[in-house]
Amino acid sequence: MKIPEEIRSLIRRVYYRYLYGTESLLADVVGRFVQKTEALSDSYDVPIYSSLWDRKYAAGRWDFLRGIREVPHLSVIVGLNQRLAPHGSILDVGCGEGMLQEQMGRNGYSKYLGIDTSATALEALSIRCDERTKFIVHDAETFPLEEQYDTIVFCESLYYFTQPIETLQRYAKALSFNGVIIFSLYQSSPRARAILRCIKQTLPLVMEVRVSDATTSWVVGVFSRQGLATA
Ligand SMILES: C[S@@+](CC[C@H](N)C(=O)[O-])C[C@H]1O[C@@H](n2cnc3c(N)ncnc32)[C@H](O)[C@@H]1O
Repeated sequence: MKIPEEIRSLIRRVYYRYLYGTESLLADVVGRFVQKTEALSDSYDVPIYSSLWDRKYAAGRWDFLRGIREVPHLSVIVGLNQRLAPHGSILDVGCGEGMLQEQMGRNGYSKYLGIDTSATALEALSIRCDERTKFIVHDAETFPLEEQYDTIVFCESLYYFTQPIETLQRYAKALSFNGVIIFSLYQSSPRARAILRCIKQTLPLVMEVRVSDATTSWVVGVFSRQGLATA
């Protein structure tokens, strides 16, 4: 029996509102149904293959990330980082076309590493690389964390991970003593709101800033190993 699109969409909303991040047979069964629904379209904020990211970047589907609407939440990330971990080392997870590094400028850090699963997104960034600035192609969920970082940023990337919360927890272990995680999550989708809810149940955030425009809002959250003592 073919389930109509409106019913699929309703089940998806109910799943992310009440079941995502919980453990039960119901959550498991509904979760698998939702995953199948999401696999039918390439327009959800869910994990996709790196080759599909490449195709989307090549087709200009992410050009809007260079637009003016992205500036406010990027500016909040840059400002908070300046205050919480000035001139520190930065790991930008899911860095895309390097918008954060551009907004930060080379004087904003002692060392910057951007990682992204899409080689196409990083293609034009080799000219920005220097002894302090690097971009590499890697899946964030398998990226080996061999160093410590003062700031780890997830700007609009967490939704695309299979295990966003576990990934965040793994990266939190790679923070330096005064280190901070800063993430941005837009709030227009049920999955994004569910991920924010689960983060807040898992990592104590020291700050949550909401940036809004006429159509949507973004939440910029901060987790600090030392609480607000670093502020
Ligand atoms: C919405 S874009 C945001 C890009 C950038 N942070 C920005 O704000 O302009 C999400 C990025 O996450 C990357 N991404 C998705 N899944 C990933 C993964 N498993 N590992 C690393 N990067 C990933 C995508 O290739 C894409 O560049």
